[in-house]
Amino acid sequence: MIKTAIFPVGGLGTRFLPATKAMPKEMLPVVDKPLIQYAVEEAAEAGVEEFIFVTGRNKTAIEDHFDHSFELEATLSAKGKDEALDVVKSMLHNPGSVMYVRQQQPAGLGHAVWCARHLIGSKPVAVLLADDLILGASCVREMVESYSGGNMVAVMDVPQDQTVAYGIVTPGADDGRVVQIEGLVEKPDPDEAPSNIAVVGRYIITPEVFETLAAQERGAGGEIQLTDALAKQIGSAPFTGVRFSGERFDCGSKLGFLQANVAFGLNNGTLEGDLRSWLEERLT
Ligand code: UTP
Repeated sequence: MIKTAIFPVGGLGTRFLPATKAMPKEMLPVVDKPLIQYAVEEAAEAGVEEFIFVTGRNKTAIEDHFDHSFELEATLSAKGKDEALDVVKSMLHNPGSVMYVRQQQPAGLGHAVWCARHLIGSKPVAVLLADDLILGASCVREMVESYSGGNMVAVMDVPQDQTVAYGIVTPGADDGRVVQIEGLVEKPDPDEAPSNIAVVGRYIITPEVFETLAAQERGAGGEIQLTDALAKQIGSAPFTGVRFSGERFDCGSKLGFLQANVAFGLNNGTLEGDLRSWLEERLT
């Protein structure tokens, strides 16, 4: 149902300097795969066939990652390293199905999404933030399964004292999995938060959202916010949140990134045993 996904990767990644000085944050690896590849695979699992990357300066590594690497492929082939060759080739999508557009300045997530306006058609599209990494079933697929029009975000319940780190929704009807959204506030203090239901970086948005973004209104932090545009649509289009079954890691923060590496390592058949014993030894 959702065939196109946008991956905004134009941010500066200042929280990961100096690692992100010359390398995109989205290329940071969790175990053996860059964050962006997890996001692309999650979208593909949901049936997405067209991948739009909104890039910025210093992001060419992402373009190279999803393209042929002739020298590497020839060397692996000559050395008979077939497994490694399969891994390298598995990243290639149908010719013409991967698109890149440059965000000339990091003016915010809403601005990054708007930069893709000429590449989307008249149907809803998914938006995935690679630094929100999800361990478990494809979050976008779970959203698509519940989708029946309008705008949708992935949500999760967070401890009340953490509302200040998230976009928080004002909930309407809530069946425990799908929640109707009646309002959305960015980073409220715990005592002012309308709930403890937080938005994470997965969205399904309608083409009308691009029209709202075109007004280029600045919000929190002086940036053009996607959540502001979504909030503006409330009342004229359905807006729902879906609680997903996986576990989300905030890989835009150092702690979340380290936690993701440990969790994905423990989930990796080859690494699990040795990693677990090392952690136990280390922590006792
Ligand atoms: P963040 O809020 O994490 O910002 O963006 P950032 O610049 O990447 O990182 P810090 O805060 O400086 O460390 C969330 C997502 O939105 C994208 C980022 O690439 C990231 O995937 N983004 C953000 C853009 O594509 N363009 C922007 O102007 C801002």
